[in-house]
Amino acid sequence: MEERRFERVGSHSHITGLGLENMKAKEVADGMVGQKEAREAAGIVVDMVKKGRFAGRAILLAGPPGTGKTALALGIAKELGKDVPFVSISGSEIYSAEMKKTEFLMQALRKAIGVRIHEMRKIYEGEVTMLDIQNVPHPYNPYQQIPKSATIKLRTTDEEKQFKVDEVFAQYLIQQGVEVGDVIQIDADSGRIAKLGKTEREMKKEGLDLSTKEAVSVPEGSIVKEKEFVYVMSLHDLDVATSRRGGFFSLFFGGGKEEITNETRQEVDETVKEWVDSGKAEIIPGVLFIDEVHMLDIEAFAFLNRAMESELAPIIILASNRGIARIRGTDVKSPHGVPLDLIDRLLIITTKPYNKQEIRKILEIRIAEEKVKIEEDALEYLTDIGERASLRYAVQLIAPASNIALHNKRKKIRKEDVEGAEKLFADVKRSMKYLKDYEKMMMGE
Ligand SMILES: Nc1ncnc2c1ncn2[C@@H]1O[C@H](COP(=O)(O)OP(=O)(O)O)[C@@H](O)[C@H]1O
Ligand SMILES: [Mg+2]
Repeated sequence: MEERRFERVGSHSHITGLGLENMKAKEVADGMVGQKEAREAAGIVVDMVKKGRFAGRAILLAGPPGTGKTALALGIAKELGKDVPFVSISGSEIYSAEMKKTEFLMQALRKAIGVRIHEMRKIYEGEVTMLDIQNVPHPYNPYQQIPKSATIKLRTTDEEKQFKVDEVFAQYLIQQGVEVGDVIQIDADSGRIAKLGKTEREMKKEGLDLSTKEAVSVPEGSIVKEKEFVYVMSLHDLDVATSRRGGFFSLFFGGGKEEITNETRQEVDETVKEWVDSGKAEIIPGVLFIDEVHMLDIEAFAFLNRAMESELAPIIILASNRGIARIRGTDVKSPHGVPLDLIDRLLIITTKPYNKQEIRKILEIRIAEEKVKIEEDALEYLTDIGERASLRYAVQLIAPASNIALHNKRKKIRKEDVEGAEKLFADVKRSMKYLKDYEKMMMGE
């Protein structure tokens, strides 16, 4: 809740697990398609973690771009259980002007550790039967829409009530991805929201599989009640809350950029320990995913090595699409640019490019996830693009193609819409070729 940022429908939101049954990968399940060996390997990792046999190790996902490395890492977090934090950073992000590299990594590690807190609170509880978010342009960035207020209707088996809520609360609703058919709890004082799940009626309506996901029942009694409220904050959220007790945040970047002192972290750790000892909280180690690991330098690797040995560490998943590379900050070359002492601790999982059917299936899932419709030949064409350019590019074209279709007052994306989007937005290969050709032209070749 600290970050006042807006998550668009993340391009991995369709991933709800690894899609395994008895450790075997199903062809299509939990939003996952193909890449079976890697998924099964990931399943073993999940099992090791759950049995407490993973300490001191990390994972490296090695494979070309667009082969599902990020998707797999997220699948692992989902398999580890509800509320398990998933934090994704890229190696290059450690070189930020605002903070030291190790501070950035420390914050990322602490974001990846959740604390589930139980408290008796006054709450509002019910199934969401209506949700209407009123948007306005951002006051300082007119190209961004932000919520101004929201109207939400909740029902229990006994009553139904409508509430008008303010901007801050409307943002919470969006961040939590609250939808009609969800059963939610709202903490009356803090406005924190806990999503308990979907009702059976809603799951049937959306065609969700009732055998793999559990439905929750519509709460009984009155909407307002005194009840145990369970919510999750990361150690980093608690660090920030503790260090900002004075109350400060930056208007433009949502704050969260300042360094946090060791004293603050110690104070938070002690408080959390007390909560755990008194049964008020549980710790949920999550996943820290570090993409483009060759961008980390020797200092960062040393820091990670130490972090992996500490008593409370998240599961660290590195990803690389490089072969032999120089370890930054040294003249030494090594596989994936990772120092050998860290390589020794890694379990390596490789990911392979997808075939045409797999690409098509993934695109179908994404299209459903983005709640748009597409003509058969348009899907075929998008699949071709996925094969010839990249899967990621094809996934990214769905939104502009649907925008073009809507603009032409059509509900279903046509082939011409995909072609239009393709013409307007380049993939990386094309943008690089364009710049190369342009350079040549400028040199009069
Ligand atoms: N096996 C898969 N099943 C379903 N979706 C996938 C799969 N692999 C990749 N995707 C989706 O395709 C897109 C590109 O994959 P991504 O995980 O970003 O690849 P990488 O991290 O290797 O570059 C993302 O939207 C991702 O969620
Ligand atoms: Mg990725």
